[in-house]
Amino acid sequence: MAGRIPQSFINDMLARVDIVDVIQSRMTLKKAGKNYSGLCPFHDEKTPSFSVSPDKQFFHCFGCQESGTALTFIMNFDRLEFVEAVESLAQQLGLEVQREAGRGPPRPQVDPDLYAVLEKAEQFYRYSLRKQPVAVDYLKSRGLTGVVARDFGIGYAPPGWQNLQEYLKTPKGSPQLLDAGLTIESDSGRAYDRFRDRIMFPIRDTRGRVIGFGGRTLGAEEGPKYLNSPETPVFHKGSELYGLYEARRALRRIDRLIVVEGYMDVVALAQHGVANSVATLGTASGEAHFQKLYRYADEVVCCFDGDQAGRAAAWKALENALPTLNEHRLIKVVFLPDGEDPDSLIRSQGKAGFLRFIDNAMPGLEFLFQRLSQGLDLSSVDGRARLAGLVAPYLNKVPEGYLRTLLEQKLRELTGLDARASSARRMPTDVRSTLNNRTQKVSDRLLTLLLKQPEIWLKVDAADRSRLFLHRGDLGLLGELASYIDTHPEADIEEILVHWSDEPSYEELLQRAQTVLEIESGVILGEFKEGVVRLTEILEQQARRRALTALKENPDVEGLRQFMALRKP
Ligand code: UTP
Ligand code: MN
Repeated sequence: MAGRIPQSFINDMLARVDIVDVIQSRMTLKKAGKNYSGLCPFHDEKTPSFSVSPDKQFFHCFGCQESGTALTFIMNFDRLEFVEAVESLAQQLGLEVQREAGRGPPRPQVDPDLYAVLEKAEQFYRYSLRKQPVAVDYLKSRGLTGVVARDFGIGYAPPGWQNLQEYLKTPKGSPQLLDAGLTIESDSGRAYDRFRDRIMFPIRDTRGRVIGFGGRTLGAEEGPKYLNSPETPVFHKGSELYGLYEARRALRRIDRLIVVEGYMDVVALAQHGVANSVATLGTASGEAHFQKLYRYADEVVCCFDGDQAGRAAAWKALENALPTLNEHRLIKVVFLPDGEDPDSLIRSQGKAGFLRFIDNAMPGLEFLFQRLSQGLDLSSVDGRARLAGLVAPYLNKVPEGYLRTLLEQKLRELTGLDARASSARRMPTDVRSTLNNRTQKVSDRLLTLLLKQPEIWLKVDAADRSRLFLHRGDLGLLGELASYIDTHPEADIEEILVHWSDEPSYEELLQRAQTVLEIESGVILGEFKEGVVRLTEILEQQARRRALTALKENPDVEGLRQFMALRKP
C-alpha cells in the first residue's frame, strides 16, 4: 500500500492491455483504416474527432487535444486518480499492483494502520451518537434526518480524555492515534482525545476511506466552533474536499460541483436533494482543490457570502483556479444574500430556490474583468492601459490554449483594440515577407543614393530624419551611414570607404558606390527625401504589428503604452 508504484509495473501492465479494448468497453469505436475513431467523450461533438491508434497504443482527440495511454483514458473517463486507475486496470487484468520498497527519494510512508484507526474512530463516534440523546437532538434541531446523518457517517465524540484509547484498547500514547491526529500529546507526554463533546463529521478520500474529521460544538461553548483534524500523512487540507466521496456515490454523473464553506452546508444541501456539493476544510479553495474538482466535473460553482469577506474569498478562489482552467472547465461564483449560507438558504427557500442562485452564478472570468475594471474609465486610453496591465498577471496564469486566446480577445474588446488586432491576425505570412522585401528594397535604394551624395542626408527635414531614426534598429547599414554623416557632415565617398574599409560591410558599400544611377544628380535629393518618408511609414506599420503581437502575447501596460504611442497610418 505504501510505496510508489514502479514505472516498470505500469509499463508491463500497459503492454498487456490493448487500448482499443479498454476504450471500446466504454464507448463506441469504428475502425477507420489503421486506427479507430469515435465521438470524443471529453468534449461535445457531432462528428468524430477522437482517434485511437492500436499501433501506438495511444488516443488523441483532434477536437479537444485530449490524448494519452489506456491509463490516461481510464483516469479521465472513469474520473479516477492515477493510483485508482492503475488499481482498476490491474484488477481487470488480474494483476497485483506492485509497490516499491523505500527506494529512491524518501517519501512519507503511510502506515496502513492509520486508515484502520481512523475507521475505528468513525465507528466509535457513530456508536457514541446513538447513546447520546443530546447530540441527536442537536442534529434534529438543525433539521437533519437520520438518513442523511447515516449517509455522511455523522457521529459524536463524547466528553472525556481517554475514550478512543479505551475503545480501541490501544496502549497509552498509541502512535497511530497520534499520527492520525485523533489524540494530542500533552506536555507531560500523556496522550488525550483531540475531539471531545463534539458532533463529528468524518472526512473521506475519493475511495471512501476516512482520513480525518471535523468536529462541531453542540452549542456556544468556548473554544473553536469547529475543530478539524491536523495535517497527517493521510489528510491534506490543501487538496481534500468534504463531501466529494458522498457526491460521487450519490450521483452517477456529476456535471457540476458546488463548493460551499461548511460541513453543515454540504449535509443540508444533500438532505434537500442537492448532492453535488463539497466543502473545503476551513481553508481557502486552493489550486490543488480545483485540480481535484475538475477531475470530477467540468463546472465548478463557488458559493460565497455576499459580504466583504465572501468577496475576498471569491477573489482568492478565482485566482487559485486560473492555472487549472481550460475551455472545457467552467468556474462560476455566486454571492449569497447577507447573513445566509447554503444551509439556511435551502431550508428557507427549498431546492428550487437554492438552485436559482446557482443557475444565476456569475462566470468567474466575468467577475475577474468586472472587478479589475472597477473604477477605471475604459473610454480613456489610460483606463484601458491600466485594465490591460491589471488583467495581464491573471491572464498569464491561465495555461496556453483556446481559453487563454479567448480571454485575450476579450481583453482586446474591452481595451478597444479588437478591430486592429484581428486584422493583424488575419494578415497572411506572405504579406509580412513582402513587407520585409519592400522595406529592404526601399532602404537599399536609399543607401545607394546616400553613397552617391552623402550630403543629402542633412538636407532632409530634421523632423523626418528623427522620425526615421526612431527605427534605428531596423535600418542596418543605412542607419550606420546616416549616423556617420550626422557626426561627419563633410564626409565624402572616399572618407566613408576608408572609414568602413575594415568592416564586413565594406564590399557592399563599395559595390553600391559603384552603381550607376539612371537618374540625374539633381533629382537624387528629391527621391531620397521621398524614400525616407516612405521607409518610415513602412517601419511604423511593422512596429505597430510587432507591438500588437507582443501585446497579445503578453498584455501589460508597457506594451499597450508602446502600441498606443505608435502613429496611426
Ligand atoms: P462557519 O462559521 O461559516 O460555520 O464555518 P457554518 O458552516 O455555517 O457552521 P454552522 O452552520 O454554524 O454549523 C464554515 C467552515 O469554516 C470552518 C469549518 O470548516 C466550517 O464548516 N471553521 C469554522 C473552522 O474550521 N473552525 C471554526 O471555528 C469555524
Ligand atoms: Mn451555517
